[in-house]
Amino acid sequence: PQTGNKRVWSGEDAGMTLPAIHSTAHKGTFGTGYLLAGSDTMPGSALLAAKGAIRSGAGKLIIGTSRFAAGAIAGAVPEATYEIDGFYKTAKGKLPDKIKAAAIGPGLEEEDAMERCVKTLLAEEDLPVVLDAGAIQKRKYSKRKIPPILTPHPGEMSRITGLSIEDIQSRRIEAAGQYAKEQHVIVVLKGRHTVMAFPDGDVYVNPTGNAALAKGGSGDSLTGIILAFLCTHSSIKEAVANAVYLHGSTADLWVESGGERSMAASDIPELIPAVMKKLE
Ligand code: APR
Ligand code: MG
Repeated sequence: PQTGNKRVWSGEDAGMTLPAIHSTAHKGTFGTGYLLAGSDTMPGSALLAAKGAIRSGAGKLIIGTSRFAAGAIAGAVPEATYEIDGFYKTAKGKLPDKIKAAAIGPGLEEEDAMERCVKTLLAEEDLPVVLDAGAIQKRKYSKRKIPPILTPHPGEMSRITGLSIEDIQSRRIEAAGQYAKEQHVIVVLKGRHTVMAFPDGDVYVNPTGNAALAKGGSGDSLTGIILAFLCTHSSIKEAVANAVYLHGSTADLWVESGGERSMAASDIPELIPAVMKKLE
């Protein structure tokens, strides 16, 4: 197919590319996601990301987080297994066996170990990796079989590119597209009409979502949804585009019956089943 396409990723696209579930499926079919998120001061970030992943169909989820955060969220996420201090273990080069995709960043505190941790993840050539929040730092990426997926909001995009937020917002498609090509990464530039730019020049614009998502923690759930879709989709592009589409759709569904102001980030995972039903 042609590349360098710039277009809207529609509900039809999402409906057509969401993988069908075979009746003989078992938990291994859907793959294990490894989520490095949450810390003593931000345990909820791991919860929001984990719930997003589980509601989006990850077969199994391993959450690498602090002992305190694991204790705080385990009752709410009984489906997951916990790798206590997974962040430090991975910084030392250790990864759980047989993981299909990984995501790092939500609710992690700024630390020196971050670069080592990201390096361990990116050293696995075949592992799809999502870098969010604190894991989005200025660095150089070498060309990799599966490009890393970065999910910056405009402030984080400014941090890694040196461009001003105003400049980025005035030409979102170009800014995301240029960074994706130059650094061989997938850029998910968040905010109204999230832009997804791929290293081959393709750009998709997401039509879903609204200001009900303009709340702390909504990005954390997106990271979990992308992680799950990387486990269940065979195309990385479709996984990313469908995740962003689904995430925005939860807010569109919310405003059909609830006030825009009242939506909380923790409502996102709870709205996923109904949105998924419409896409299936
Ligand atoms: N219209 C549509 N979508 C929106 C809108 C809007 N007006 N406002 C926000 N969103 C969506 C974004 O597209 C994105 O998917 O909500 C999500 C917000 O994600 P983040 O900006 O990452 O916000 P947050 O979840 O609070 O991040 C938590 O990570 O990025 C760091 O500094 C951030 O420490 C904070 C943490
Ligand atoms: Mg965020």
